[in-house]
Amino acid sequence: MPCTVIVGAFWGDEGKGKIISYLALKDKIDLCVRTGSVNAAHTVWIEGKRYALHMVPATFVYEGCRLLIGAGANVHVAKFLEEVEATNVKNRIGVDCQASIIEEKHSMQDKISAHLKGLGTTGWGVGPALEERVRRTAKLAKDIPELQPYLTDVAVEANNAINAGKKVLLEGTQGFMLSLFYGTYPYVTGRDTSASAVCSEAGVGPTKVDDVLLVFKSFMTRVGAGPLPGELTKEEAIKQGWFEIAAGTGRERRSAPFNFEIAKKAAIINGATQAALTKLDALYPKCKGARTYDELPLEAKEFVKEVERQIGVPVVLIGTGPEALDIIDRRS
Ligand code: IMP
Ligand code: MG
Repeated sequence: MPCTVIVGAFWGDEGKGKIISYLALKDKIDLCVRTGSVNAAHTVWIEGKRYALHMVPATFVYEGCRLLIGAGANVHVAKFLEEVEATNVKNRIGVDCQASIIEEKHSMQDKISAHLKGLGTTGWGVGPALEERVRRTAKLAKDIPELQPYLTDVAVEANNAINAGKKVLLEGTQGFMLSLFYGTYPYVTGRDTSASAVCSEAGVGPTKVDDVLLVFKSFMTRVGAGPLPGELTKEEAIKQGWFEIAAGTGRERRSAPFNFEIAKKAAIINGATQAALTKLDALYPKCKGARTYDELPLEAKEFVKEVERQIGVPVVLIGTGPEALDIIDRRS
């Protein structure tokens, strides 16, 4: 804080939604900018209710937070309007005039292209929508009648908030290993997912950022095609308690143990200053629901220390259950 960038370290689904919703409530985040597009779903559990957010920032859980979608983002209009309704945030959400639009035709292109099918994309059409943007034929948010009430200049709002000392969060989507530049190309998404790219999409310069919080899950998962070092069979994953179904697409996730080499690379290239480690209870069931570090069993503490030693960044938040508040907060 005051300006923190949150990014995922692996292939998305590290639990960013949970971490972001916790910070929103705990730190009373004043303003949040979401980046990326509709392919990413951030899961938020609040008071027993589950939200899988494709467009609305996961900080919506704190009513004092201004919610924004940056100029670098790519907006799915129907999904945006549906989620604005479901989360009841009509009076505090804004979309940058220059954000681009993802249309039905892009989803069709994604689904019929043998190449894109082979990559196992989410099928939303984000790659084709970004291609269109690069061709400079894309529709922008300012061209869409239904978005008129929400239009704003996100970079101006975000920088004004930072300069006024407000608490600002830049919400990265997907994960570092899906980055177009640094991930497992061609099995990647259509954009760079690193912290620098998140700043660029939001319109905030690198000198304005105080912290980069890198979110790790205690094991790794991946949906779609592409390499996953140490991949388990589905049977092994079920036995370990690591078997997951994707929040966005309902697809089965593949899983593998935590990989320190990938974690180190993610910490370096994202310039991480802090780390979060989610789902520690999936590795050590005795951690479930713990809210203080002292409650953790010795082997869980050893794992946390090993992560810190190898990535060279303090693990400040530890997830121990699905609800936003199932967290050990080690920030002083
Ligand atoms: P696309 O982003 O839909 O083009 O899909 C490209 C690859 O990224 C596929 O392997 C997808 O499964 C993966 N992917 C895209 N967004 C997410 C996400 O939010 N979580 C996990 N995987 C994702
Ligand atoms: Mg997800």
